[in-house]
Amino acid sequence: TAQLALARAEDLILEIPDYPSEGIIFRDITPLIADGDALRATVDAMIAPFAGQFDVVAGLEARGFLFASAAAYTSGAGLMPVRKAGKLPRPAVTVEYSLEYGSAVIEAHGDFPRGTRVLILDDVLATGGTLAAAHDLMEQLGYEVAGTAVLFEIEGLGGREALGDHELHTVFTS
Ligand code: PRP
Repeated sequence: TAQLALARAEDLILEIPDYPSEGIIFRDITPLIADGDALRATVDAMIAPFAGQFDVVAGLEARGFLFASAAAYTSGAGLMPVRKAGKLPRPAVTVEYSLEYGSAVIEAHGDFPRGTRVLILDDVLATGGTLAAAHDLMEQLGYEVAGTAVLFEIEGLGGREALGDHELHTVFTS
């Protein structure tokens, strides 16, 4: 059943110490997405609270794409890739945000009408910098954020706080 697959999915997220650098515990989702039932149960659980409330699913490069495209397919919604700097061929709206060291840029084309209802998906919430920037981006594009969901929330890094009043749905929490 879906419940069993979801319980197995949680066990399939591996914790890799000191990757990509010392002191960081990397959450490796590749074993989870390798399991068809776990992948399906996970995607279903990410989008369940927002059924019927969004027109488009936005996925954050790169691992967010994996969940967003499955979510868009299964719900009949469109898909919006939110890309890292310099990957889009046409003029795009750009948001710069700070990382622990340095800064990063995400961007998207403005191909949807103003007021489009967007569900934002990513794999992991850590400091929240990426998702907060995605909210900024949607606002600048004139879209309405219907919700935000992540597969895995790492607690204690301020991610939820960084999202302020925006509703956040998480499937698993550390
Ligand atoms: C990871 C993860 C989230 C983000 C979370 O992406 O997939 O997008 O970091 O961190 P934050 O909450 O502190 O912003 P990463 O930049 O490693 O990109 P990738 O998916 O391309 O590997």
